[in-house]
Amino acid sequence: MIQKPKIKTNRALFSSGPCAKYPGWDINNLDTTILGRSHRAKQPKNFIEYSINLTAELLELPKDYKVAIVPASDTGAFELAMWNLLGSRPIDVFAWESFGKGWVTDIINQLNLSNVNKIEAEYGFLPDLSKANPKNDIVFTLNGTTSGVKVPDLNWIDNNREGLTLCDATSGLFAQNVDWSKLDVTTFSWQKVLGGEAQHGMIILSPRAIDRINTYNPDWPMPKIFRIKKSGKVDESIFTGSTINTPSLMCVADYVSALEWAKKSGGLKKLIEIANSNLDIISQWVEKNNWISFLAQDKETISNTSVCLEFASKSPDGDDLDTAALSKDIQKILEEEQIGYDIGAYRDAPPGLRIWVGATVEPQDVSILLEWIEWAYFSIIQKQ
Ligand SMILES: Cc1ncc(COP(=O)(O)O)c(C=O)c1O
Repeated sequence: MIQKPKIKTNRALFSSGPCAKYPGWDINNLDTTILGRSHRAKQPKNFIEYSINLTAELLELPKDYKVAIVPASDTGAFELAMWNLLGSRPIDVFAWESFGKGWVTDIINQLNLSNVNKIEAEYGFLPDLSKANPKNDIVFTLNGTTSGVKVPDLNWIDNNREGLTLCDATSGLFAQNVDWSKLDVTTFSWQKVLGGEAQHGMIILSPRAIDRINTYNPDWPMPKIFRIKKSGKVDESIFTGSTINTPSLMCVADYVSALEWAKKSGGLKKLIEIANSNLDIISQWVEKNNWISFLAQDKETISNTSVCLEFASKSPDGDDLDTAALSKDIQKILEEEQIGYDIGAYRDAPPGLRIWVGATVEPQDVSILLEWIEWAYFSIIQKQ
């Protein structure tokens, strides 16, 4: 019988969004001087612009890439991108889990675009990225949060492409290196790798994406919430702190504090290192335990933020297991013990566990969590 671990996690926060705040986060440390002011006044607008500039600095964006804050989290940012940019040429859309499949549905059933190549794969796999046609627009997810499968690199994107790339990068940015020359439109939200608050979307545009916005007018009506053009051209003021509608200045203050923490901690390199070492801890543990495995089938594609694991259908003693029930029971025990919250697989994904290990999660907590998962697993199966 395996011993119940004695040490508890320092923080039991492993949700894949909203994700854990950075270590040492304290609401009293937020710069709240602009609360209660108009977001269009000089000082608050400068503060918003500061958050945009710090984002660009930390992500090491090329100087000619532009960043804006838009409504409605990553979903808002990605929808805004699709509504403003798609429709002028054929589309290759790659999907391998819930969020990517959602973009496929929107392109085909909401925007009603017909010249669309769907290139899909089941949970655990990546679709055939070599099918990307450089003449087409390419839509994809950087890190499939619900399957724990990421694109290992962006080398499959042609440097001389004619179409644009639209990348939903919300659970990968600040944890994974990206070659910006391959990305034209990139979106994310604050509550993922930096542990900020939800409901604000970020959009990063390459010069070619801005050129498309300036020269292409989709033939569908544009809801106000997606309108980023003024007199037919992109409204440049969104890149310097103006917003389409009112942002939460409290959330901006929180985002700035996360960005400053990231910068002080060693910047992008350090954030990536933390996520990688968290994944290493899990990889070594999975290697030792043949009753659990990554949902991602190819090692190169295993996410270093949303790590998805599945249980073997037989116990080490050869008994059949109901893996969905087992996974639920483990989650319940870990929650009751206050060791790990929100580690269940996403509702549309195969049953199992999903552990967020982005840069705000401390390696020591990951190690402790795994000991408890092991203990919970054996406690449950030995009772059966
Ligand atoms: C890959 C991906 N895309 C989109 C979303 C939706 O993000 P938001 O809730 O910020 O709109 C998520 C959320 O988990 C996600 O992981």
